[in-house]
Amino acid sequence: MVAVSTMADLTVEDGVAILTINNPPVNALSGGVRAGLTEGVAMATADDSVSSIVLICDGRTFIAGADITEFGGKPTGPSLQDALTAMENCTKPIVAAIHGTALGGGLETALVCHYRVADSKARFGLPEVNLGLLPGAGGTQRLPRVVGVEKALQMVTSGVPIGSTEALASGLISEIVDDLRGGAIAFAKKVVAEGRPLVRIRDQNEKIEEAKGKPELFAAIRKSIARKTRGFKAPEFNIRCVEAAVNSATFDEGLKTEGKLFMELMTGEQSAAQRYFFFAERQATKIPDVPKDTAEIDIKKVGVIGAGTMGGGISMNILNVGVPVTIVETKQEALDRGLGVIRKNYENTAKKGRISQQDVEDRMALLTGTLNIEDLADCDLVIEAVFENMDVKKDIFGKLDKIVKQGSILASNTSALDLNEIATATTRPESVIGLHFFSPANVMKLLEIVRGDHSSKEVIKTSMSFAKKIGKAAALVGVCPGFVGNRILAQRQYQAQQLILEGALPHEVDKVLFDFGMPMGPYQMSDLAGLDLGWDADKSNGETIRDRLCEAGRRGQKTGAGYYDYDENRIPTPSADVEKIIMEFSEKSQKIRRDIDDEEILARCIFPMINEGAKILDEGIAIRSSDVDVVWVYGYGWPIYRGGPMHYADSIGLDKVVAKMREFGEITGDPVWEPAPLLVRLAEEGKGFKDFAA
Ligand code: 3HC
Repeated sequence: MVAVSTMADLTVEDGVAILTINNPPVNALSGGVRAGLTEGVAMATADDSVSSIVLICDGRTFIAGADITEFGGKPTGPSLQDALTAMENCTKPIVAAIHGTALGGGLETALVCHYRVADSKARFGLPEVNLGLLPGAGGTQRLPRVVGVEKALQMVTSGVPIGSTEALASGLISEIVDDLRGGAIAFAKKVVAEGRPLVRIRDQNEKIEEAKGKPELFAAIRKSIARKTRGFKAPEFNIRCVEAAVNSATFDEGLKTEGKLFMELMTGEQSAAQRYFFFAERQATKIPDVPKDTAEIDIKKVGVIGAGTMGGGISMNILNVGVPVTIVETKQEALDRGLGVIRKNYENTAKKGRISQQDVEDRMALLTGTLNIEDLADCDLVIEAVFENMDVKKDIFGKLDKIVKQGSILASNTSALDLNEIATATTRPESVIGLHFFSPANVMKLLEIVRGDHSSKEVIKTSMSFAKKIGKAAALVGVCPGFVGNRILAQRQYQAQQLILEGALPHEVDKVLFDFGMPMGPYQMSDLAGLDLGWDADKSNGETIRDRLCEAGRRGQKTGAGYYDYDENRIPTPSADVEKIIMEFSEKSQKIRRDIDDEEILARCIFPMINEGAKILDEGIAIRSSDVDVVWVYGYGWPIYRGGPMHYADSIGLDKVVAKMREFGEITGDPVWEPAPLLVRLAEEGKGFKDFAA
């Protein structure tokens, strides 16, 4: 065995050179790997005893892409393009032996090999779009030449990988082998023995020709992804590259288009934000004082208290991964309704073809309903999901303390209440933690894990791992009213109210935030959630706009009217009645209404969120600013191409945020515009939130 570079070695076995890449954890295409590919192929070519080459990777996966940490830095070693050109032009057949995930630049590397074989569990994809990019090493030109234009378009715009069976059927790989190394060597020998050609995908034009003169292919994909990709640049750029593969006179011309569009994305703000977020999400899983090797509790059975919307959604997450759930209600009718909704949700998913009818039955078989809380005794994790009332929650935790076996986790789904106070109802506060799911809990990706003063490391570690298991992105937060997400949201909601008193209308505020990239604005969100959420009809005395709307029966979408009027398809239109009420309130609060432009609406809504984020960091409620961004992207739909509120602030410059806060303070006279000390300090030091370390 010869070391070819720091990250690759070469052995020759019976005429087959085996080039092995070793760059843990995911064999990313760092400088050492690129050097290994270039040198390894050169060495094998020069060796007369070698008649074929197998490219294989050590560790858990084939090359999973370019090394994202190198992006934006000074390149070292050979370029990826040079390495791939050398491979494609190699005079001896190269066979890629693929396991794990061949992603991005990894798949592009495999695509310049003359043949590909894989094990049955391998996955193949071009996920660059998720980083605000496109495959920049020929992927958009080669993939359609292998799998066809339609499938390539799906793969590059969704970023979703395909499995080995699909890869085999579409011609992406030649064989599925059981023993990867042995199978790949045997395949390489077969290529030589049978005198098979050196297949260069760049020369294969048949599938490209099929798509020529069919613009409808591109129109169809654009239409199908329009809603989901609103505001994103990369999906459209990926499509343009595949269009170039089809319409360019030569392969190299298409490659040139790919290179140009790749650079435009790579140097743009969206990809910077999306790459930042890739690491933010992974960083959030790391808790400084909870080491990786902390013991975990084995979660074999979960109890959920409350079969309402939240309890049902939470249960579905857990059933989906094959863990049994016992759900507790106080009344048979509520229990039956809750179980019925879960079944209906699964049936609907099955109707859409996302799961099979057998999956529905398997999941329902894991679900038990009961009216007896004592049935939770042997659960390893119990999640309370009843309405937000401290007395009720304390009563439940007092009971759980007596019923549930020692060592289990007692979790509350509270979205704002004091977890430490809830924990006082037990004799084991170390077992108590907050698991704040976001509605709809079976869909939203965020899980705010609320660490109480006494939550044990074991309980925290288990909760973080369990979040990953059920497919959630977790962020660990401390105890304060509203935790991270809702505490920041409250600032935006307050400003949205001020704006309509000062001169804007709900639909104007909503439009600005929607255009910014949020899924909806604050008023659409209120109408969707229901204006009467937390509203008390007995205590309502018309003091706020919301009181007046609720009193008038305008309680949101469900009543056909809220801040907007809704037609039978729930399409909103601004309401003259609501406008009248707003005018009355403006007058009552002695505001002189004025025109408020979009720029002011945006800044007024966003900057107080950033300011609150600064306070949250300073108080240690979030570990790092990127955790705040994870909460806002996955919990509230903040556009990922803007990174999150804290990244957005960094990209504007904190000095500008402070200056604007002070300016609004002067205009409005409202003390909420006082910039947070941390924000001011970082701005004065010319730093960003990214530089903050608690
Ligand atoms: N570059 C640098 N580091 C990477 C990386 C990459 N491409 N992919 C993963 N890592 C790092 C992660 O940051 C993480 O580091 P940490 O342990 O310090 O937090 C570690 O590898 C393990 O990653 P995960 O925690 O994500 O491990 P999983 O097993 O859950 O997932 C994976 C593995 C499916 C490979 C996942 O990491 C992934 O999707 N990676 C990104 C793949 C990708 O986007 N490739 C395209 C890159 S862009 C490109 O290739 C451009 C080209 O066209 C020119």
